[in-house]
Amino acid sequence: MPFEKEIETAKNHFEKILQEQLERVEHLKQEGDWIDYSELAPIIIGIIGGDGIGPEISRHARSVLEFLLADEIREHKVELRDIEGLTIENRAKLMQPVPDDVLEEIKRCHVLLKGPTTTPRKGDKWPNIESANVALRRKLDLFANIRPVKVPEKNIDWTFFRENTEGAYVLGSKGLNITEDLAIDFKAITTQGAERIIRLAFDYAKKNNINRVTVVTKANVVKASDGKFLAIAEKVASEYPEVKWDDWYIDIMTAKLIDPSRQSQFKVFVAPNLYGDIITDEAAQMQGGVGTAGSVNLGKRYAMFEAIHGSALRMVEEGRTKYADPSSLLRAVVMMLDHIGFNSKAIHLDMALDICGIYEKKIFPTGRSNGATGEEFAQYIMETLQDPNLEQQWQSFQ
Ligand code: IPM
Ligand code: MG
Repeated sequence: MPFEKEIETAKNHFEKILQEQLERVEHLKQEGDWIDYSELAPIIIGIIGGDGIGPEISRHARSVLEFLLADEIREHKVELRDIEGLTIENRAKLMQPVPDDVLEEIKRCHVLLKGPTTTPRKGDKWPNIESANVALRRKLDLFANIRPVKVPEKNIDWTFFRENTEGAYVLGSKGLNITEDLAIDFKAITTQGAERIIRLAFDYAKKNNINRVTVVTKANVVKASDGKFLAIAEKVASEYPEVKWDDWYIDIMTAKLIDPSRQSQFKVFVAPNLYGDIITDEAAQMQGGVGTAGSVNLGKRYAMFEAIHGSALRMVEEGRTKYADPSSLLRAVVMMLDHIGFNSKAIHLDMALDICGIYEKKIFPTGRSNGATGEEFAQYIMETLQDPNLEQQWQSFQ
């Protein structure tokens, strides 16, 4: 038989993948409950700098966090903990997407604020190891990637629920070059994995009186896995009669997001991993760029808050690090504060970010020397936060 050896190797590889994935399903069946932050003292917030512009923007996000939680930190209700070693240099040296000792440290925290990390690809100066993001999402079971996008003047208020631990990503580093001419990748969607993210989206819609959930797949072409996602959406939706739902294919979805006659009708989206990755960049661009959007990777035990953009190595190479905009990471801080129970602080920071980054814009970073530095912008945010009339000021712009 031609290619007997190659086929045998591939079969063995596939067998291993199936075993791992079936084991994962068994774990998913035994999921625990959601962590209750009100029972923790202190709540430990791990801060991971990352690569490229990551350490710089994380430093500014940390200052703002320290400023907002000064009392709680003093009273040991909250601890900020710096986590070193999740750098591309260290990951490449150890050939691990998340070095074991770093993962240990991370697991001792409750929530994480993470700067962007460089994801190597074939041909880079780094070995082609798995993305730290993807590995952390999987290792900490951060199954929901929630990304809000708002464009007030267009009446756009979207919340994306991207599945974060399976789909095209879970086996993204386990594809095979069967022969020199044939490359095969694998995509996996499970009943449990699809159901928990879809349910979270519907719960969110119901709780917030939002009467619309939009499911995004390519189920007409990717029939097994996307077909499953859509079928499960239909089942979950039937349990939420008060929430209307519709389904779109990813291609036409990307078009409708920029269709002025449609865009403001969409509210909550839920999508498998890769489609969620794509539409959230598109949506963030409409809000003012990927540098403006925050994101949470949420699991039942851990939550990781991050910018949705990458490590922008080009900015570093061109000496523009200090001009990097920390807004995206600061929007992630808003989500973190809200998540761990500091709701009014979250609202205030969100307002300050709107004022400084959207409305008043006394100074703002452009990513270049003609704009503010990240540090100056963080200062401006903190000054705005100290304004006793912050809420009125924000209202005046509405
Ligand atoms: C994101 C990023 C990551 C992803 C990369 C860095 C692996 O694009 O968080 O959206 O594809 O998920
Ligand atoms: Mg992305």
